[in-house]
Amino acid sequence: MPLHEEIIEQLVATAREARESAYAPYSGFRVGAALLSDDGEIFTGCNVENSSYGLTCCAERTAVYTAVTAGVQSFLAIAVAADGVSVPPCGACRQVLSEFAPALPVILAGSGNEHRMLTLTNLLPEPFNSDFLHSPATDPHPND
Ligand code: THU
Repeated sequence: MPLHEEIIEQLVATAREARESAYAPYSGFRVGAALLSDDGEIFTGCNVENSSYGLTCCAERTAVYTAVTAGVQSFLAIAVAADGVSVPPCGACRQVLSEFAPALPVILAGSGNEHRMLTLTNLLPEPFNSDFLHSPATDPHPND
């Protein structure tokens, strides 16, 4: 289903709003995410840092966990809004997004007016997924 410009703009605006809630005292780098579900709901997330740096949760994963907690697991797109230039999701977030939507459109926005659109298929070309868990003796993708 094509994503209309109107919904893209709404996702970007919602991600920017979520960025305002970021808890980023260590990096000073605020990120917000807005995740659109199949039934048109938007779930938001921001980055939540920790004094034990490695426990930081990115905005994208916060949004996924918020949606899943609400019982929603099917998604149409995510917008990510960062301070300054637009940033692509980190590897951990790509993998977590891929669990639910391996071909998800990913809209990236910085502080300017422009945004760009990528897909998770390009961002994470060979994801680890549950196929690999259930066939210990055979390669589930022998021709890849
Ligand atoms: N961060 C995100 O929330 N999402 C991204 O796509 C990139 C990085 C956060 C993690 C950390 O709080 C800060 O940005 C700097 O890495």
